[in-house]
Amino acid sequence: MTSEALENLLHEERHFEPSAEFAAQANGTAALYDAAAADRLAFWDTQARELISWDAPWSEVLDWTNAPFAQWFVDGTLNVAYNCVDRHVEAGYGDQVAIYWEGEPEGESRAITYADLQAEVNQAAHALESLGVRHGDRVAIYLPMIPEAAVAMLACARIGAVHSVVFGGFSSEALRSRIEDAEASVVITSDGGYRRGKASALKPAVDDALDAGAESVRHVLVVRRTGQDVAWVEGRDLWWHEVVGQQSTEHTYTAHDSEHPLFILYTSGTTGKPKGIKHTTGGYLTQCAYTHRNVFDLKPDTDVYWCTADVGWVTGHSYIVYGPLANRATQVMYEGTPDTPHKGRLWEIVQKYGVTIFYTAPTLIRTMMKWGADIPAGYDLSSLRLLGSVGEPINPEAWMWYREHVGHNSCPIVDTWWQTETGAIMISPLPGVTSTKPGSAQRPLPGISADVVDDLAQSVPDGGGGYLVLTEPWPAMLRTIWGDDQRFVETYWSRFEGLYFAGDGAKKDEDGDIWLLGRVDDVMNVSGHRISTTEVESALVSHPIVAEAAVVGASDEMTGQGIVAFVILRGDAHEGADTVKELRDHVAKEIGPIAKPRQIMIVAELPKTRSGKIMRRLLRDVAENREVGDVTTLADSSVMDLIKTGLSGDGD
Ligand code: PRX
Repeated sequence: MTSEALENLLHEERHFEPSAEFAAQANGTAALYDAAAADRLAFWDTQARELISWDAPWSEVLDWTNAPFAQWFVDGTLNVAYNCVDRHVEAGYGDQVAIYWEGEPEGESRAITYADLQAEVNQAAHALESLGVRHGDRVAIYLPMIPEAAVAMLACARIGAVHSVVFGGFSSEALRSRIEDAEASVVITSDGGYRRGKASALKPAVDDALDAGAESVRHVLVVRRTGQDVAWVEGRDLWWHEVVGQQSTEHTYTAHDSEHPLFILYTSGTTGKPKGIKHTTGGYLTQCAYTHRNVFDLKPDTDVYWCTADVGWVTGHSYIVYGPLANRATQVMYEGTPDTPHKGRLWEIVQKYGVTIFYTAPTLIRTMMKWGADIPAGYDLSSLRLLGSVGEPINPEAWMWYREHVGHNSCPIVDTWWQTETGAIMISPLPGVTSTKPGSAQRPLPGISADVVDDLAQSVPDGGGGYLVLTEPWPAMLRTIWGDDQRFVETYWSRFEGLYFAGDGAKKDEDGDIWLLGRVDDVMNVSGHRISTTEVESALVSHPIVAEAAVVGASDEMTGQGIVAFVILRGDAHEGADTVKELRDHVAKEIGPIAKPRQIMIVAELPKTRSGKIMRRLLRDVAENREVGDVTTLADSSVMDLIKTGLSGDGD
């Protein structure tokens, strides 16, 4: 973002007061802020009691004596699947639809009630047990957006197995490394799924991953979704419908410790190796339920909620599976892409189900803006009463467009800031209470403490900028990085003593509202997906013709950031007509299509300091077509001229 754009952004003067009508019925109230401010731990104690069913009470809300290793609701026990499914059936809501699933091919849909979900989760829990999966074992889930993804996650939670969902768009290589890091014993996948109008395959990536390693895996459970042919390893591979379908629909759960791991979810950090973010049970579920109820104002008897994320990301974990189901929501789950078979597909689904709450990412909103307002105008969106945004900063124009063309100028918009690591929403307006501002996530939620600090960890005054930190532990916080406590401490708790360093730059405006300004580390945000520059660099240098690579995130109107790579070829390699394409495909193979560089520039040199550090700042100037900044610290200041004049090989 240019400093001029930033200035404009921070002088945002539009405010939208909640309507009296909305405020009168809102779950969130100003009293929540007061209660949390008066006694934060008592506040969380109340949330945990009111929103979650426990089998045994806790002896202490928070044990922070071994900081930064937290324990929440110490000694409490509960079962997450019971909370998300069974208790609703017991309370008489078995016939309420939990999931309206919409396949990408039009006309393929399923309505799954809470009673159906209970039967399927129980069967899947038995199936996992029959495959030898025990409490604490890890199960990798590599599925498209089909209901079995939620069923598989809940079945793991029910028996105390730890799931590790890997986004279906990741490559076999990425899957292999994640399976190996978690030592998963079972992989749940499908033959494929529907994307962009055709059946794409998933099972081959699992086969490749297991051929290349991942030796801990004993079984692969395969959901039949598309009916395409799949290669089969007898004894290892099993059809979901055969193994799960024959099990009893009754299953007796056991309660798990509040700090029992619920899942691992890998995310990109500053080094090439993704981090397995570990989340546990009681605190995570409490904050998911609390935020889902108050930020989305969920009324389980009347709302139809829809979060467009994929279950492969944390948003899908917390706001498709755990938060909404704990709160007995009726929700929509959609398998496919927004423009298949036409660009009005999402609005058609909103109209079909009468969606009332809609949660999506700024990149999708900007894409919709590009497609034109006449598309949403062609559908009846009057059922919508609240809109949400997540994943990256939302620019005020996109926010205003969302409000006007989707939210008929009356829906409150909640811009929710959080991370894989935080587990649940941390900073967001509270609808019905907060006067919203386009582009700002505004305030930490009641019970959450955040600040913006300078290099010396001093809180900046209103109007100042610096780094976003979280100043108190919170229930859904990550507990560690799987298998690497030291990296956990170093990454998040070492930059500023006693504070959680989020990795985001932020500003406080004159009202003290927080504006998120993007990552300050080597993590890029491409269409709301987190990808590290080092990860893409490692993928590039693993190609035999590449000698060196430097990757930067360049600002991109549509995707937030785009990946731009500068590559030096090996001395004996020659740039051919297809070199750039080959390298882009190689990155897709190593990581996944989401990490394909937008542009690859083949260069003879990279700008380095005298100590050999690549100056990414200068490369970003080139990638963003800006005047190149200060080059005085370069070992060889002519390098930048060389790069600029010798550029070749734009991406397709
Ligand atoms: O940079 C912030 C950005 O996304 C990062 C977290 O990415 P991930 O762990 O993949 O989780 C995404 C979904 C929760 C953050 O460090 N980010 C997320 N939400 C916002 C945001 N940036 C600005 N505004 C947001 N609302």
